[in-house]
Amino acid sequence: MLILGLETSCDETGVALYDTEKGLLSHALYSQVDVHAEYGGVVPELASRDHVRKTLPLVEQVLSDAQCGPQAIEGVAYTAGPGLMGALMVGATLARGLARGWGVPALGVHHMEGHLLAPMLEADPPQFPFVALLVSGGHTQLVRVDGIGRYRMLGESLDDAAGEAFDKAAKMLGLPYPGGPHIARLAPEGDPQRFDFPRPMVNRPGLDFSFSGLKTHTLTTIRQLEADGELSDQDRADVARAFEEAVVSTLVIKCRRALEQEHLSRLVMAGGVSANRNLRAQLQKALGARGAQVYYPAMEFCTDNGAMIAYAGAQRLAAGQCDGVEVQVRPRWPMTELPPLTEASGAAG
Ligand code: KG4
Ligand code: ZN
Repeated sequence: MLILGLETSCDETGVALYDTEKGLLSHALYSQVDVHAEYGGVVPELASRDHVRKTLPLVEQVLSDAQCGPQAIEGVAYTAGPGLMGALMVGATLARGLARGWGVPALGVHHMEGHLLAPMLEADPPQFPFVALLVSGGHTQLVRVDGIGRYRMLGESLDDAAGEAFDKAAKMLGLPYPGGPHIARLAPEGDPQRFDFPRPMVNRPGLDFSFSGLKTHTLTTIRQLEADGELSDQDRADVARAFEEAVVSTLVIKCRRALEQEHLSRLVMAGGVSANRNLRAQLQKALGARGAQVYYPAMEFCTDNGAMIAYAGAQRLAAGQCDGVEVQVRPRWPMTELPPLTEASGAAG
């Protein structure tokens, strides 16, 4: 089944063509980073308007890259939530309009399910069951995954998401938005001995996260440094290093605990922060030493993209799921409300 996937939940327009037999045929991404840069964060109205401008040209591009006519498309998947209301509406109305015009079904996909299934696009995909660490700009979650739509929340952030914490720490250091990649670039230059930041909530039982204390600690450290004069490049790198180490070791400790609790040996990580090389290396080291396997998406599919939406949509559309007549987007939408796929449905897993 050949599916067109559209991602417009935040500040990236992603479009892809996924075939359940042949795999990913083509994909294209446009990032709005430059549009929002001067505001230091995503401006929802500007995001919606830019999706309006960019989505259809990207649809044309992926069709042309795959040398495929629209008559070959058998279904259209789009991100229906969670995300920014206006941005979601652009993708939803466009996807459903295209599906209607082409006489094929449309399906609203859960953005975090898209992230969670992105490692399935790799050559050696994980088998169910596994524990998933979802770390994006809006979510930090540990989920037990027994199949598509069979999710049990093990723990989540009580305040800021990991990506959001990276973005805020970066802003405090005067780095551009989104800050995660900038902190990640600076951190290796930092002195690991200079600061030791707290690892939030690791001494308490359970699998929830909290990053607000770490954020306050980061701000206090920066203020103390600024009291002695302007921050030097080395100061910035040292803070970035300590901050990244604290987030990474917190995530690693909780992942290890989740695998032990669930008696599982496969960990899947996905979402923008899973692009962090230090996190990848430390998870691999800590869990690999215990005989566990760690899976993550290719770098380009860690952050928002159309391929993950096309993939997730293809599994569900191939199983016979599709939208009703009403256009519905859900800016807030717990992933555990998703329906499971039955074994007989023929979907992957
Ligand atoms: O999944 P994503 O593209 O969007 C959401 O669904 O939120 O994640 C974006 C987040 C941002 O907070 C960004 O700073 C963070 O992922 N991020 C990183 C890295 N690359 C992106 N954080 C740490 N290290 C990175 N290399
Ligand atoms: Zn995302």
